[in-house]
Amino acid sequence: MEKVKLGRTSIKVSKLGFGTGTAHPSGCCSQALMDKKEMAELLLYAFEHGVNFWDTAFQYGTHRHIREALRHVRRQDVVIATKLVSSHEKETEKMFSTSLKELGVEYVDVCLMHGLRTKRELSYKQGALNELLKYKKAGKVRAVGLSSHGLSALKAAAEVPEIDLVWARINFAGLCMDSDRMGLYDQLASVSCLKKLAKVILPKNLTAALRPKIDTDSLSETNRREVEETLKVIHSKTKGVVGMKVLAEGHLQEKTDESIRYVRNLPFIDSFLIGMTSRDEITKNCRSLDSG
Ligand SMILES: NC(=O)c1ccc[n+]([C@@H]2O[C@H](COP(=O)([O-])OP(=O)(O)OC[C@H]3O[C@@H](n4cnc5c(N)ncnc54)[C@H](OP(=O)(O)O)[C@@H]3O)[C@@H](O)[C@H]2O)c1
Repeated sequence: MEKVKLGRTSIKVSKLGFGTGTAHPSGCCSQALMDKKEMAELLLYAFEHGVNFWDTAFQYGTHRHIREALRHVRRQDVVIATKLVSSHEKETEKMFSTSLKELGVEYVDVCLMHGLRTKRELSYKQGALNELLKYKKAGKVRAVGLSSHGLSALKAAAEVPEIDLVWARINFAGLCMDSDRMGLYDQLASVSCLKKLAKVILPKNLTAALRPKIDTDSLSETNRREVEETLKVIHSKTKGVVGMKVLAEGHLQEKTDESIRYVRNLPFIDSFLIGMTSRDEITKNCRSLDSG
């Protein structure tokens, strides 16, 4: 499978990366619910097909699955990206060292601030960014950045020189993509001082109900193009761009070929992630990519 460099970094990844954070109705991630060995076998099966890029996060619960897979490949042959939801130095330090322990590694290739929605949230997380930059200097991380859950955060990321990489939601249908429209939960959660409060006053089932529904959440073509234009700008600043939600959490599963072809041909997307839970999906997605 084609390997590409992530922006200005020296990190080389497969065009298709393995997402291990697919949302499951239980509130956990589908991949985290799988048996550790079974999930590790899938990561290794994908690796045999050329997929050397494994995406995880502190929140996903899949660090241990990746650790299991790492028993069977050389550490330097895979690229591991993880993410932290922390805002300040101390909590970042705690989450980062726990992540390394869970993964059983000395370093991660990529560490991102997880799921940022707004410019304000990004500036609030300056402490977390400073801490990640410290790890980069110490060789514990090769590149830092953010994963985005809102257009405002995406636009702000373009202006931060220290950010090497951006993970952004992108598909041809405009489903589950970054917009300036946010549900009540996200509005509360994007103001970090209200985040804990939001968690307390909005239990999980209500949180889900307040999020915009997937079928009504499709961006207009104009807004979808705005995301593309923003990613173009980010990429032109030598930052790496990785696409996520390429199949819109499975809502585009009847159109996998078209979805993969679309994102594969975007010149400002270096690589993209798909959440997978079976050999069939891995084979099919690798085949779609190669025929793209
Ligand atoms: N903020 C963030 O940092 C963030 C946010 C979202 C996602 N991510 C990352 O990006 C990854 C991708 O996002 P995602 O998993 O939410 O959504 P996605 O990749 O758009 O879609 C995953 C869904 O597509 C289905 N699928 C995959 N290949 C298929 C195939 N060939 N045929 C039919 N269905 C197929 C999977 O089905 P099964 O369930 O049957 O496997 C799964 O339900 C995540 O896993 C995660 O690593 C990061």
